[in-house]
Amino acid sequence: MKIFVINGPNLNMLGLREKEHYGSGTYADLTEMISAHASTKNIDVEFYQSNHEGDLVDYIQKAYFEKADGIVINPGAYTHTSVAILDAVKSVKIPTVEVHISKVEEREDFRQVSYVRAACVKTITGEGFGGYLKAIDFLAKEDKQ
Ligand code: DQA
Repeated sequence: MKIFVINGPNLNMLGLREKEHYGSGTYADLTEMISAHASTKNIDVEFYQSNHEGDLVDYIQKAYFEKADGIVINPGAYTHTSVAILDAVKSVKIPTVEVHISKVEEREDFRQVSYVRAACVKTITGEGFGGYLKAIDFLAKEDKQ
């Protein structure tokens, strides 16, 4: 099974940015944690992080052409603005889990809208880096059914 893990803008700044929301782990810590977890389940993971909306759309399309079985996506701030990312996830028809490190529902009003959510099979918020592991587990379970 192959899962694409896609992170949007500013997630490369994990460990530096707003530790009260995102903790002190870095992006490298995050990818290491996910890789270690996925390898125990024999799942291949491919990581991508970009600060650019169109690049994120390209990578979602790449998941289709490379026959990924699942996508875990944290679109960062584009969650709250991007119809293009919503349309990309809809286009590829790959089971996709939306993850947010912070508990977005307890934050500002502008974070209460998620465009991508309508195309996702599940949303996980407020579980820190562990949310990505839960997303992988969810997709792995779905794949076997
Ligand atoms: C985030 C929440 C977003 O509102 C924010 O813009 C991010 C990170 C999260 O992981 O909690 O960049 O997606």
